[in-house]
Amino acid sequence: MKRELTITIDGPAGSGKSTIAKLVAKHLNYLYIDTGATYRAVTWKAMRNGVNLKDEEALVRLAVETEVELRKAEDGLEVYVDGQNVTGEIRIPEVTNNVFYLARLAGVRERMVNIQREMGRQGAVVVEGRDIGTVVFPQADYKFYLDASLKERARRRFKELSAREHKVDLKQVEKEVKVRDNEDEGREIAPLKIAEGAIVIDSTEMRIEEEVSAILKYIREN
Ligand code: DC
Repeated sequence: MKRELTITIDGPAGSGKSTIAKLVAKHLNYLYIDTGATYRAVTWKAMRNGVNLKDEEALVRLAVETEVELRKAEDGLEVYVDGQNVTGEIRIPEVTNNVFYLARLAGVRERMVNIQREMGRQGAVVVEGRDIGTVVFPQADYKFYLDASLKERARRRFKELSAREHKVDLKQVEKEVKVRDNEDEGREIAPLKIAEGAIVIDSTEMRIEEEVSAILKYIREN
């Protein structure tokens, strides 16, 4: 197997991308890059600074001025905004629900894509997101697209939020996941879609280990 491969994993919210990408990276001793974290990081800063989320110019300016860094940690990644560790804070539901204000802006995406390309420049990376195989690394060695039914994705998200002691309602979570699907797929710039040449994996009825094995097997054999 060629070393220093670039592997992309795209898919909708709750498809299990992060878990799978992290494990595949660990198996290959590659760097795991969570691109959603970069969008979350600038969203967090915009909220923290009280920027009007409808002020597109202000958001782009903020994104351009912000330093976002992902650092490898024991169990995944730590996320830094201008040197401050925001790993936990960027996961709160308020950030999740506001990311779309930034993710739809060309100027913000351009800045994030540059940061992501810079991080993945040397290869030996598993990069996870929505537009990685289509826009960020269209020349990747292997592209995967993870999917699962809306119900199953909502159930996973519900479990994750409950574990972090957020008060949640399954029906409400399903609604929010559906809203995010529409935002991700309906976005004019870099919408979520299956990249050319991507292998599609439907994980609705698969266990995590099965998915990871399927991806590693495909990479070994192709
Ligand atoms: O993967 P995630 O849930 O942490 O991503 C958070 C949001 O960031 C997601 O709703 C859409 C946006 N995003 C994006 O637009 N492009 C990416 N490559 C990754 C995430």
